[in-house]
Amino acid sequence: MSPLILFLSFLTPITALEFRYHDNSEIKDYLTQISTSNPNITYLYSIGQSVTGQELWVLALGLSPRRHTVGIPEFKYVANMHGNEVLGRVLLLQLIDDLVRGYRNNEKWALYLLNSTRIHILPTMNPDGFDSSDTDCLFSQGRFNHNGIDLNRNFPDAFAGLRRRQQLDEEKREPEVKAVIDWLRTESFVLSANLHGGAVVASYPYDNSNGGSELVNGASVSPDDDVFIHLAKIYSYKHASMHQGERCRDSRPFLDGITNGYQWYPLEGGMQDYNYVWAQCLELTLEVSCCKYPPVKELPALWTDNREALLAFIQQVHLGVKGRVFDSSGVPVHNAVVEVRGRNNMCPFRTNQHGEYYRLLLPGNYSFTVTYPGHEVLTETLTVPYGPDYYSALKHDFQLRQLAMTTGRTLPTSPSPTCNYTRIVEAGGDVNRLAWTELTAGLGLVMVLRSLSD
Ligand SMILES: *[C@@H]1O[C@H](CO)[C@@H](O)[C@H](O)[C@H]1NC(C)=O
Ligand SMILES: *[C@@H]1O[C@H](CO)[C@@H](O)[C@H](O)[C@H]1NC(C)=O
Ligand SMILES: *[C@@H]1O[C@H](CO)[C@@H](O)[C@H](O)[C@H]1NC(C)=O
Ligand SMILES: *[C@@H]1O[C@H](CO)[C@@H](O)[C@H](O)[C@H]1NC(C)=O
Ligand SMILES: [Zn+2]
Repeated sequence: MSPLILFLSFLTPITALEFRYHDNSEIKDYLTQISTSNPNITYLYSIGQSVTGQELWVLALGLSPRRHTVGIPEFKYVANMHGNEVLGRVLLLQLIDDLVRGYRNNEKWALYLLNSTRIHILPTMNPDGFDSSDTDCLFSQGRFNHNGIDLNRNFPDAFAGLRRRQQLDEEKREPEVKAVIDWLRTESFVLSANLHGGAVVASYPYDNSNGGSELVNGASVSPDDDVFIHLAKIYSYKHASMHQGERCRDSRPFLDGITNGYQWYPLEGGMQDYNYVWAQCLELTLEVSCCKYPPVKELPALWTDNREALLAFIQQVHLGVKGRVFDSSGVPVHNAVVEVRGRNNMCPFRTNQHGEYYRLLLPGNYSFTVTYPGHEVLTETLTVPYGPDYYSALKHDFQLRQLAMTTGRTLPTSPSPTCNYTRIVEAGGDVNRLAWTELTAGLGLVMVLRSLSD
């Protein structure tokens, strides 16, 4: 081999990825090439198939890309769930390229990030929709999946009311949505964002409400509102212009470039509420371009606008506290409930199968309560620093003590109820929900227009 060819073959895998719209099979080829040439830090897997049978490919990056490591939080980015909102596909491929090159070039930011975090990237959640989309900036051709369903309206919704929820459960869930739901069961994701187009704003839960106590001044406020606002501002302020409240056509300006999802417009069956309520994964909806299908020549600048924000947002997975819960004999326990005073999550946060919990919190003092059958309720106050600066949340394990009175008896192995809908329904209930439905019926046309805008 001549020195020149040797030089070129060494150079090839680390030259920058071309700025253009790769089609679904090109994305697959690119991910395959990356994963075979970087097996130590990447791993390619599929979470399922689209309606027409296209694989939903995910690239995992990290020092242990194939499996979870205790203490290393799981993070994910999802793009293109609306098939015609395509910038996210480009951004996530560029992000992969950037992370891998950064690592190979021994750049500190990439080493720290991949050493501390496992990052999962799904460049397209709706490959069928992409195939049928046109390149229009505004229209919604290609938004839906092959069955004509809006994937961001097809998730279970805690606010839908008991009757509606049962209806939704019985309905057929789209395969792309089912794949994501199963994915959330396999990995205990801590933080996530899903990328859209048609606006420039970072939107955070809740997207829905039933008119209960969560509804405050037109926003549907979650128990972790402070954390969500912080996360959304991280993205909007690290973005070149989002924080300036950029307006796309007729949209209203967004203060700081962020918005509560419901306050922007209510939607039922969205992915971010599902992630947060059911999978204890805090998720944002990032609207990254006014034009849903930006011209190719604008892609390099759009990447530059988003690059730092995408990286900084991943680093936020290190907010708060993480650790394990051990039973009286020193064994880490699954499904222990780990709650923070003042944060009544509908589905209380629970430890995963390794006995781990991850709790994103801003710096401050927090009172934790840990509950597990057969053991005393444990309460501890923790002082939480700003973890992202150190690429690690505060590490704290909880050591449970067996209940004296039940020693020797047969004990249940896990607490029974998973989610407590009473926490939202009690304050709102069906009466308010009725009023809300009537109100929104009057706004029907506005809602339909809005609902296709992101
Ligand atoms: C991958 O990791 C192994 C074990 O740590 C190491 O020996 C090998 O050099 C690494 N390969 C690359 C391409 O970095
Ligand atoms: C990677 O993380 C471990 C601890 O998890 C630490 O000891 C090591 O120094 C880190 N390496 C780099 C390059 O950050
Ligand atoms: C948290 O607790 C520590 C120790 O008790 C105290 O010094 C500190 O002022 C508290 N911080 C806040 C924000 O309350
Ligand atoms: C559910 O939440 C309500 C309101 O916070 C509370 O009164 C009730 O005890 C909870 N139920 C369970 C089973 O935790
Ligand atoms: Zn969208």
